[in-house]
Amino acid sequence: MSDSTIIAMKSVHRIYRTDTLETHALAGVDLEIRAGDYVSIEGPSGCGKSTLLSVIGLLEDFDLGEYRLAGVPVGEIDLRERARLRNREIGFVFQSFNLIQEMTVLENVALPLHYRGGFSRKQQLDKAASLLDQVGLQERADHRPNQLSGGQQQRAAIARALIGDPSLILADEPTGNLDQENSDRIMDLLDSLVDNGVTLLTVTHNPDYARRAHRRVQMLDGRLLGDR
Ligand SMILES: Nc1ncnc2c1ncn2[C@@H]1O[C@H](COP(=O)(O)OP(=O)(O)OP(=O)(O)O)[C@@H](O)[C@H]1O
Ligand SMILES: [Mg+2]
Repeated sequence: MSDSTIIAMKSVHRIYRTDTLETHALAGVDLEIRAGDYVSIEGPSGCGKSTLLSVIGLLEDFDLGEYRLAGVPVGEIDLRERARLRNREIGFVFQSFNLIQEMTVLENVALPLHYRGGFSRKQQLDKAASLLDQVGLQERADHRPNQLSGGQQQRAAIARALIGDPSLILADEPTGNLDQENSDRIMDLLDSLVDNGVTLLTVTHNPDYARRAHRRVQMLDGRLLGDR
């Protein structure tokens, strides 16, 4: 593993068990990603893409294998250290937005800075306003999430993912709910972050956006088939 390797997985497995079914959502994933890479993961519905992002982003455990994130052996650190790593380094854009309905859009976007600590309330809200501006939602800052359209909620979630200046961004269908204009705006924003040194992993069904990535990895039945 070279110094610039940010993600190193060896034979990682994730198995979901229910009463009737055992699903090998990750069935031996080998993956190396270097800092500053822009990687797109493609594959059919149910092949394990979202599971892979959740494991990479420390939202979910894995059952077997090895995973090092920025050199840290993820399987060996405690929950606190995990949470710290996640909050500092990783920005998520989920398929579901997970916005908190009791808060305004502005407060939702500011939340990661609140959790991280070290920012005054004014700093948190100023930065949130600037992110909302970048995703074209400045006029919706005081709305509640349920007063926004699906695409607007998605953009708010993206602003929230970016507010902590993460070094690694994991984006699961980031433009799934957006029209062409807003999709292009979001993809351009993500591109500009990569230009500034961020590592980006996206899952997308849109071939035009997949082509923007530096690397395209195919996934099938819980395994990566390699680059193309
Ligand atoms: N919490 C869970 N419990 C049981 N099975 C699960 C759970 N989460 C995911 N799975 C199963 O694991 C497999 C991989 O799911 P995953 O969400 O990673 O697929 P995906 O590639 O992201 O699909 P899509 O393109 O439809 O979003 C699927 O068969 C899914 O049904
Ligand atoms: Mg998915």
